[in-house]
Amino acid sequence: MSKVVRKAVVPAAGLGTRFLPATKATPKEMLPVVDKPAIQYVVEEAVAAGLEDVLFITGRSKRPLEDHFDRNFELEEALERKGDEERLGLVTEPTELARIHYVRQGDPLGLGHAVLVAENHVGNEPFAVLLGDDLIDPRDPILPHMMQIREEHGGSVICLMEVPAESISLYGCAAVEVTSENDVVRVTDLVEKPEAAQAPSSYAVIGRYLLDPAVFEVLRKTAPGRGGEIQLTDALRVLATMPATEGGGVRGVIFGGRRYDTGDRLSYLQANIMLAAERDDLGPDLRAWLRDYVAKLS
Ligand code: G1P
Repeated sequence: MSKVVRKAVVPAAGLGTRFLPATKATPKEMLPVVDKPAIQYVVEEAVAAGLEDVLFITGRSKRPLEDHFDRNFELEEALERKGDEERLGLVTEPTELARIHYVRQGDPLGLGHAVLVAENHVGNEPFAVLLGDDLIDPRDPILPHMMQIREEHGGSVICLMEVPAESISLYGCAAVEVTSENDVVRVTDLVEKPEAAQAPSSYAVIGRYLLDPAVFEVLRKTAPGRGGEIQLTDALRVLATMPATEGGGVRGVIFGGRRYDTGDRLSYLQANIMLAAERDDLGPDLRAWLRDYVAKLS
């Protein structure tokens, strides 16, 4: 079995109900973060880490997502006629990013089920899973470090971030043991979205995973968990207790960089403001306006 991670799986079958009515006819993955669909940041992150084979797990009404990563000859011709090279580049860029594949999830049975749907495409090799709601700042890449840990130890590698106690119920939470490496822990157990009082630590699971293919067999046996869904967290829990010879073992890399959450309305707005405020083109004007606006608010 190859030890090297080559493929990325991006679950994108969710209904996006938190953003209705915007997501009635538009997939939530296509909502712009500043001026680019959220999902393009995720694909760019995978590609930057060397993962040029990307499998989207989609569902009904996700056509715009496929169109975004495909050619648009009409638009390309119009921009060519105008000699607008810059915008032409923006149109063709998503097409040339990666080898993109699609498979439909069918029944929406949860994240664990979405990952299981990838089995045929992934085969017997380790792979990455990137969740679209988590946007990792391109200046703070984490996948390369996770890949290095996977190459050293095998098994699966998850990404953890310390969050305040009141937020832990929004995430999977890991029980951990320290290792000789400062920002790497051994994961001994996991709980999906625990109440603060029941949380085994303040380490939240962020939507970046490197999974051993042993996860497929485990997922097949995983019963619906929290919310009646087949949870990836529950499968990781089993992997954490399995021997390394069977593809078990889960390590966590502690992420200390910039991460934006585009999964709910407030954090989505914050992500847009933070990312735009730091850009060279929009930043200076936005920051000046923000200062003025905030001063008037208080
Ligand atoms: C999923 C996972 C959860 C993880 C989170 C990260 O939850 O089930 O363990 O912490 O992604 O964003 P979701 O936010 O899809 O409900």
